[in-house]
Amino acid sequence: MTAVLGRASAKINLHLGVGGPRGDGFHELRTIYQSISLHDEISAAPATGWRLVTRTQEYVDRAALPATDDDIVTRAASLLADLHGIDPHADVAVDKAIPIAGGLAGGSADAAAALVVLDRLWDLQTPHDALMDLAARLGSDVPFALLGGTCLGTGRGEVVEEVPDPGEWSWVVVPSRAGLPTPAVYRHFDELFPGAGAPASGDDLVRALATGDPRVVAATLHNDLQEPALDLRPDLATLIGRGESEGALRGLVSGSGPTCVFLCESGQQAEVVAEGIRGAGHETVLVATGPDAGAHLVSSSGTR
Ligand code: C5P
Repeated sequence: MTAVLGRASAKINLHLGVGGPRGDGFHELRTIYQSISLHDEISAAPATGWRLVTRTQEYVDRAALPATDDDIVTRAASLLADLHGIDPHADVAVDKAIPIAGGLAGGSADAAAALVVLDRLWDLQTPHDALMDLAARLGSDVPFALLGGTCLGTGRGEVVEEVPDPGEWSWVVVPSRAGLPTPAVYRHFDELFPGAGAPASGDDLVRALATGDPRVVAATLHNDLQEPALDLRPDLATLIGRGESEGALRGLVSGSGPTCVFLCESGQQAEVVAEGIRGAGHETVLVATGPDAGAHLVSSSGTR
């Protein structure tokens, strides 16, 4: 059976400037996204109906998976099929290595990969701009998941443009099972900062990335959702302190959390920091590098 295989990376936020709430309930953002080497794979084979199975690494919380009908991969397939006036028809398997924990946009990555993979399987040749429009309808982070690399995201995060990033960055990624719902973190941001104006630009981080120096970048990492997230989950402050005391240059909450990420001087240092954090009782501690590619095809034939 001919199958199409695609890959999609997790994202982290190196800068997340949050403005006041807009009329539509979303917040105006200026964020710098980076794709990291932690990735999911999605394969699709021809079928007459729609079938989705999700396989998970042992550290991924299966209980947090949505029902097939609610799955963002199913929604991505429906939107793409609707655009072309067809019914979604494929046998799809998602292999999840990205933890289902807020802050890594694993669901957004899967949605972006589904768009790319199904576009090829169904031979639709959807123009890039149309795919980006579908992506924005699926979620604020999905357009970035299609582009990958390092990007500035504006609007509610869905308007993305590439940022020069010549470095290779070593990260420790610590997801956490207990949920921290994104809307709750934004609501608490509104409570803490009722008069929030325009979001912080992130220009200092853009300049820092161009140096390729992790110490310079560490000093400019920034997340306006960190304070509300730590207020709701004080244990994350302890985790960040632990990672920094183990030698990370900087630890911070990614996106709305609860995932925390730690920038390290080198891959070797990241392994040391990861081991130290495991020693503090954290089960899942991953090492990754960035930037990585956006959602892309790995192969478009073969047997599975
Ligand atoms: O677009 P996405 O599904 O990722 O958004 C999830 C929730 O996060 C939204 O319903 C909203 O409560 C909050 N959000 C926000 N401002 C943004 C992005 C997300 O308030 N720019």
